[in-house]
Amino acid sequence: MKLVRLIYASRKTEHWNDQELQKLTAQASEYNRKHAITGVLIFNRKNFLQCIEGERSKVSALFQKIAHDDRHQNIELISVEQVDEREMERWSMCYIPDSHITKELVLKYSDSDDFNPFEMTTRGAFAFIRHACELMQSAQK
Ligand SMILES: Cc1cc2nc3c(=O)[nH]c(=O)nc-3n(C[C@H](O)[C@H](O)[C@H](O)COP(=O)(O)O)c2cc1C
Repeated sequence: MKLVRLIYASRKTEHWNDQELQKLTAQASEYNRKHAITGVLIFNRKNFLQCIEGERSKVSALFQKIAHDDRHQNIELISVEQVDEREMERWSMCYIPDSHITKELVLKYSDSDDFNPFEMTTRGAFAFIRHACELMQSAQK
């Protein structure tokens, strides 16, 4: 199997509407589950940071859809790598809201406490995502 993990950052556009969030996450969870894609979406009401993992052709197909979505722009690839195992295997689409993006968490992986995924390094972005998922997991317990 060719398992890959893709991480990108993007910024919302005027077509984004916070009311759509629930619809988007429900629809995305269903699609991702159907295609054995796992991942996480972090959003601070301005910037998105998303990680998707799965079979290479499936991740490529989904990323093409996402990249054409006019609800966000400045889509910047942070990393695409072949991996031996999934990091987010428990989530088809874990949404991490603003309230979980604490200043302490941001400061740990950035040079300021302002969540700006465009300024994160590849390793920093991945570490940030993992840490945010751990916090989410313990909040759900
Ligand atoms: C920031 C962002 C993240 C998204 N993530 C996913 C996702 O993980 N899975 C998914 O199916 N759609 C996701 N979407 C929605 C897709 O861009 C697209 O609207 C959806 O796949 C339906 O595409 P279609 O109408 O071509 O079938 C995301 C959209 C945005 C703006």
